[in-house]
Amino acid sequence: MSTDRPYIISLGGSLIIPQATQQINIDYLVQFKQLLSSHIAQGKRFFIITGGGYTARQYQNAGKPLAELSNSDLDWLGIYSTHLNAQFIRTILKEWSYPHILDRADQNFTDIDQYPVVVSGGWHPGNSTDYIAVKIAEKYGAQKLINLSNIDYVYTADPKVDPEATPIETMTWSEFRTMVGDTWDPGASAPFDPIASKEAEQQCIEVAILNGENLENLSKYLDEDEFVGTVIS
Ligand code: UTP
Repeated sequence: MSTDRPYIISLGGSLIIPQATQQINIDYLVQFKQLLSSHIAQGKRFFIITGGGYTARQYQNAGKPLAELSNSDLDWLGIYSTHLNAQFIRTILKEWSYPHILDRADQNFTDIDQYPVVVSGGWHPGNSTDYIAVKIAEKYGAQKLINLSNIDYVYTADPKVDPEATPIETMTWSEFRTMVGDTWDPGASAPFDPIASKEAEQQCIEVAILNGENLENLSKYLDEDEFVGTVIS
């Protein structure tokens, strides 16, 4: 097994179950698996942290009119949704993956580096899986992480609302954190969550925001070729 630093991938829930179809995207996962297979064959190792996406939002939104739910209640519904997605991804990658998902902060598995793939869900209320990806990068010695969602770049404004919005290729944490703010809102959707951004800035972790739908582009990133996306450092 390669001793290189692992790649940390935050796999947004919207890539597993896109909002548009509300179905598991099997075609995408077949291709994602092929991509991993070819990079694992080169000796690369991956931590994949799965988001809760559509499933999380379904439960969170359904719960709100039924009871007075705290942020923590909503977060736990989200966390268990990430665990379901994590178990699913771990299972479909079972030929390479560590046989358990990571689901708590206090787990210390000693044999984890024997496996080319380790899958994690969320750990505790107060953040999204982006934060867990940053903590895993810290814990397992990676200085970079890849955030896969369904946007090509971070833009100067929301391109769906503002036609003047332009893509940003590189930015500092300070610039990014001015855009996303400092507070946690369960179910809110920023290109990278504010709590995770604060931690990444403190730990000097570089985050590449890529469109996970474009797997050729992800492959270029992994091969250290030119790629489309925003790098925050
Ligand atoms: P996600 O990481 O999926 O957040 O966790 P998201 O912003 O919805 O991201 P996408 O859409 O998947 O890319 C879903 C929800 O689970 C809770 C939060 O409420 C989050 O919004 N969560 C997740 C936690 O509270 N703690 C965690 O460690 C992870």
